[in-house]
Amino acid sequence: MSEQNQFNVLMVCLGNICRSPTAQGIFEAKLQQAGLASRVKVDSAGTAAWHTGKAPDPRSQTVALQRGYQIGHLRARQATRDDFDHFDYVLAMDTDNLNDLKVLEPSHFQGHLGLFLDFAFPNQQRSVPDPYYTQGDKGFHEVVDLIEQASEGLIKELKKQITE
Ligand code: 4NP
Repeated sequence: MSEQNQFNVLMVCLGNICRSPTAQGIFEAKLQQAGLASRVKVDSAGTAAWHTGKAPDPRSQTVALQRGYQIGHLRARQATRDDFDHFDYVLAMDTDNLNDLKVLEPSHFQGHLGLFLDFAFPNQQRSVPDPYYTQGDKGFHEVVDLIEQASEGLIKELKKQITE
């Protein structure tokens, strides 16, 4: 667990090649803009191991770049029980991911496990729709739209805690 005023955030989806690396890249960029990059560390993982070691899906990389975010350097890995000892916020892209993470969550975890979109749309149980099997790039742009909004919300929340 982190020192005071230092936070570790883990973004989690199913494959760790579409939504969660996009969330990592966008949230890191927004932390930079907010001057919080040294206070908040970000990583991403998948509940499944299928794509371990792979770069983000080319469609995610292309759309992210079109929107101003570089994510091509990221590599997929599977989320583990140990992650709960290192991250203060474990944020699921959808409700299936959240249910899978609840199975991994140790009883001593003191951090926040929840849906990432709660930071933009509280109490709505909103998920980032999985774009993997969709045609064209519309679904990938929607991922960016939703993640940008949730990133702003999470930054507001962290700013409150950092200045407390
Ligand atoms: P992600 O999308 O969870 O946003 O990375 C997916 C990537 C791969 C698969 C499903 C979803 N797949 O079935 O391989």
